Amino acid sequence: MPNPLIEFRQLQKVYGSGNTEVRALWNVDLTIWPGEYCAIMGPSGSGKSTAMNMIGCLDRPTGGDYYFDNQNVASLDDAALAHIRNQKIGFVFQQFHLLPQLTARENVELPMVYAGVSRVERHQRAIAALQQVGLGDRLNNRPNQLSGGQQQRVAIARAIVNRPLLLLADEPTGALDTHTTEDVLTIFAELHRRGITIVLVTHEPDVARASQRIIWFKDGEVLNDHLCPADLGSFVTPSLRP
Ligand SMILES: Nc1ncnc2c1ncn2[C@@H]1O[C@H](COP(=O)(O)OP(=O)(O)OP(=O)(O)O)[C@@H](O)[C@H]1O
Ligand SMILES: [Mg+2]
Repeated sequence: MPNPLIEFRQLQKVYGSGNTEVRALWNVDLTIWPGEYCAIMGPSGSGKSTAMNMIGCLDRPTGGDYYFDNQNVASLDDAALAHIRNQKIGFVFQQFHLLPQLTARENVELPMVYAGVSRVERHQRAIAALQQVGLGDRLNNRPNQLSGGQQQRVAIARAIVNRPLLLLADEPTGALDTHTTEDVLTIFAELHRRGITIVLVTHEPDVARASQRIIWFKDGEVLNDHLCPADLGSFVTPSLRP
């Protein structure tokens, strides 16, 4: 049995204090194993993005423990966290977050610049990553010369180019139409087949159904952490619907 990739133990994230205190995450236990494909769902404000920020080592818990790839995140300094993010985690966001002045290839090369990869290898790996997401013919286009779906595919190429253990995506299809959403899900399925762990946040049942496991948040707690995608319909009652 491998070790968990992600392990929350009674994890808390509290913003503010006194009257303004918000328990964004409250005593969350959560274990995600290498190779899993999970979707995080739940109403607005339930703590999904906060959980993603924790998982992605962008923030530290205010209580409890978080172990990522066997390392206690609370014990690491900012430089160590940045190193983990660069080497082991790929991020995809709803609004793509590409740099507008750079071409698709240059955007994909960026994480490798930080990782100290040589120029020649950066070029080769960026081109291979863009080919993998079906954009081998758009290498030199800037983001404003690409459709939304194409921009998201560039962002996915950028996220995987350092060969991370984990792909984290917060509402990756939130800005896309149904057809382009399918393209992104096809790419995720292929990446998952190749062994990468995927955790995404979504409000869309059809996106969650493409995963293997749904984790349902409500009011900063995990209400169900092993919901089978096939059972989603019965679980999404009107009161829980995002
Ligand atoms: N930086 C912050 N400072 C104070 N409160 C915050 C901060 N970030 C989030 N919160 C609060 O924490 C709670 C959880 O927020 P979070 O962004 O994780 O929700 P979410 O499930 O991602 O919602 P949505 O579906 O709308 O994106 C909310 O009540 C939110 O207002
Ligand atoms: Mg959110």
